[in-house]
Amino acid sequence: MNILLTGGAGFIGSHLAERLLARGDRVVILDDLNDFYDPRVKENNLRQILASSGAAFVRGDILDAPLLDRIFAESRFDVVVHLAARAGVRPSIQDPLLYDRVNCCGTLLLLEAARKHAIKRMVFASSSSVYGNVKEIPFREDARIDRPISPYAATKAACELYGHNYHHLYGISFTALRFFTVYGPRQRPDMAIHKFTRLIAAGEPVPFFGDGSTRRDYTYIDDIIAGAVAAVDRDLGFEIINLGESATTTLAELVALIEKRLGKKARLDRRPMQPGDVLMTRADIAKARRLLGYCPATPLEHGILEFIRWRQDARNAAAIAAVQKPH
Ligand SMILES: NC(=O)c1ccc[n+]([C@@H]2O[C@H](COP(=O)([O-])OP(=O)(O)OC[C@H]3O[C@@H](n4cnc5c(N)ncnc54)[C@H](O)[C@@H]3O)[C@@H](O)[C@H]2O)c1
Repeated sequence: MNILLTGGAGFIGSHLAERLLARGDRVVILDDLNDFYDPRVKENNLRQILASSGAAFVRGDILDAPLLDRIFAESRFDVVVHLAARAGVRPSIQDPLLYDRVNCCGTLLLLEAARKHAIKRMVFASSSSVYGNVKEIPFREDARIDRPISPYAATKAACELYGHNYHHLYGISFTALRFFTVYGPRQRPDMAIHKFTRLIAAGEPVPFFGDGSTRRDYTYIDDIIAGAVAAVDRDLGFEIINLGESATTTLAELVALIEKRLGKKARLDRRPMQPGDVLMTRADIAKARRLLGYCPATPLEHGILEFIRWRQDARNAAAIAAVQKPH
C-alpha cells in the first residue's frame, strides 16, 4: 500500500513506520520534528527507520495547507495514517490554543486534503483521555464522551467528530483508534514510565501526583502496532475502536515495578493530584478483538523490562542522553 504517515518520527509513528515498511508498504512520513521534547530523539528514531528502508521523509507542518496539497498531488495514497498531534494532558492546560490549532485544525486540513485528492481512508490516533472520568469501567466506545476534563481530550473528541463529518459527507472511511497509555522502547520522555525510569536510575526525586491510587491501562507498543496495522488494512466505514491492554495498574504499583526491575528505590516527591488527570482508565477491547482481531499479549512486567533493555542499548545512547534533563 501507499501510505502517508503523519507524526512518523515520534514514538508510536516510528514503530508503525518500521512495521509497514518491513512488509513492503510505501510510506511517506510527514513530521515537523518540533521541540515538544528534544528533536534529537525524533531524529534518532528517523535515522533508524531511514537506514533500513526506502521511506520518504518530508519535514513539514500539517498546518501547511499548500505543502499538504503538494504531497497529496505527488502520491496517490491508499490510506492516510494521522498520528501527528500535540500529545499530553498537562501541557494542553498550559497552551490550549496550540493544542486546538495542531490537533483540530491540523486534522481538518488533512481531511480537506483527503477530500480534495479523493483519498478513501484515514486512520486516526485518538486517546483514552476522551472518556474523562466516565463511571462505567471498562470504557466502551459507545460511552458518552461529552464531558472531557482537559483541552487535549476535547481536541481528540473533536477530531473524531470531524472524522464522522467527512465520512458522512464525502464517504471517507475513518477509523479512530483510542490508544490507552502506550509504552515501550522510544516512549515519549514526558510519559510516566520513561520519566520514572530515568529519575529512579539517576537517583533523582520522582514527582508523584496524588496518593498513588490512580489507575492506568498501560499498553505495550507492539500490541498497539498490531492493532494499528490491522486498522490500516481494513475499510470499516466509520469506526471508533479502543486499543488497550484491558488491565489496570495503580501509580504506586507502577513505581514498585520499575524499582524492582532497576533494583533501586525511588525517592518520591509527593505532590497533589494534577487537574486534568483522570482517576482511572481501562479499555473494553471486545470491539477491537471483533473488528481487528486484536489480541494484546504483553504484560506490564515484561514490557517494562523491554523498555529498560532499550535504555541500556548503546545504539540509543544519543536519544537517552538528549532527555537526561527533565522536560
Ligand atoms: N503515547 C500514548 O500513550 C498515546 C495515547 C493516546 C493517544 N496518543 C496519540 O498518538 C499519537 C502519537 O503519540 P506519540 O506518543 O507517538 O507522540 P509523539 O509526540 O512522540 O509523536 C507525535 C509526532 O507528531 C509530530 N508532530 C506534532 N505536531 C506536528 C505538526 N504540526 N506537523 C507535523 N508533525 C507534527 C511530532 O514532531 C512527533 O514526532 C498522537 O496523536 C497522540 O495524541 C498517544
